[in-house]
Amino acid sequence: MAVKEVDSITGQETTGHEWDGIKELNRPLPMWWLYTFYATIVISVILWVLYPAIPWINGHTNGILGYNQRASLDKVMEEANAAQAQYITRISQAPSLAAIQADPDLLNFAQAGGRAVFNENCAACHGLGGSGRPGGFPTLADDDWLWGGKLDDIAQTVHHGIRNADPDSRQSVMPNFGTDQILTAEQIGDVAEYVLSLSSRSTDAAAADRGKTVFADNCASCHGDDGQGKAEFGAPNLADAIWLHGDGSKLAIVAQVTKPRMGVMPAWDGRLSEANQRMVTIYVHSLGGGQ
Ligand code: HEC
Ligand code: HEC
Repeated sequence: MAVKEVDSITGQETTGHEWDGIKELNRPLPMWWLYTFYATIVISVILWVLYPAIPWINGHTNGILGYNQRASLDKVMEEANAAQAQYITRISQAPSLAAIQADPDLLNFAQAGGRAVFNENCAACHGLGGSGRPGGFPTLADDDWLWGGKLDDIAQTVHHGIRNADPDSRQSVMPNFGTDQILTAEQIGDVAEYVLSLSSRSTDAAAADRGKTVFADNCASCHGDDGQGKAEFGAPNLADAIWLHGDGSKLAIVAQVTKPRMGVMPAWDGRLSEANQRMVTIYVHSLGGGQ
């Protein structure tokens, strides 16, 4: 045992080490720090024993608790899916769309699910929130409907689509009045002038008057006597300010009558599950224009 030496300046004990006349003071670690350090070592050993810890050549030590993060994630997912599955089953088995709407719980779920289905499958053509896109993709958030805005109308459109190969798809097409020479260029000019007059925009009363007869003979069967449209033919209202093809100018109307453009929409039967089609139908109906 070396005799303890005390440094005269600080009054502290030294370790007895000395370099070039400089002596090292003995400053031990504080006890609280040391015991915390030992405790962490003990805790880490306990954790190694309880939980998966040490990498091995094939895998790792498993720990005696058998804990597994992936298994607990699977369990959480399973519970979430089971909760959803219950709603999905109730939605696909509900006797009608109206019955889903009448149940606040189901309605909530259907609207949220329908929005997700819509964003993924429909927004590319119809815009986010059904705001529509130029070039014949109608707004679904207003009360101007080509094929009807009741739940069952929308469901029919969604399930079977428009002008596609599905046997139950919506089919009516407007004749090529110009290119198939059903009407002369003058008659088309006159009927376009009459269509303008339906929204008080005609500048040639005589032409509009001649066009009125052309309209009654060729157009009213689909577009209605006053051009207000007929949902059974998907024929738009021609008397309002909403236009599917073009801007509603005389040029656009003449172009449509001469060689009509006809919108096409895919059928969703076979592409979306029954529950997803029902949810997206209810979502579209809820966008503001549902009848
Ligand atoms: C490839 C483009 C495209 C996609 C994708 C699409 N649609 Fe359409 N949709 C159209 C077109 C074009 C029309 C208008 C057809 C016409 O001129 O009659 C239409 C019309 C409709 C109508 C009738 C609107 C009315 O005024 O009567 C509804 C409802 C509708 N779509 C819902 C949907 C839903 C819901 C989805 C997604 C599941 C969807 N569409 C996906 C192109 C599309
Ligand atoms: C067989 C039914 C049918 C007949 C007959 C018919 N149309 Fe149409 N018309 C339609 C349909 C359906 C559309 C919608 C096209 C689409 O959905 O893409 C349409 C669209 C239009 C549009 C474009 C409307 C818009 O919002 O952009 C105009 C204009 C129009 N028709 C005028 C006429 C005129 C004028 C006649 C008579 C000379 C006529 N149509 C005869 C079915 C018809």
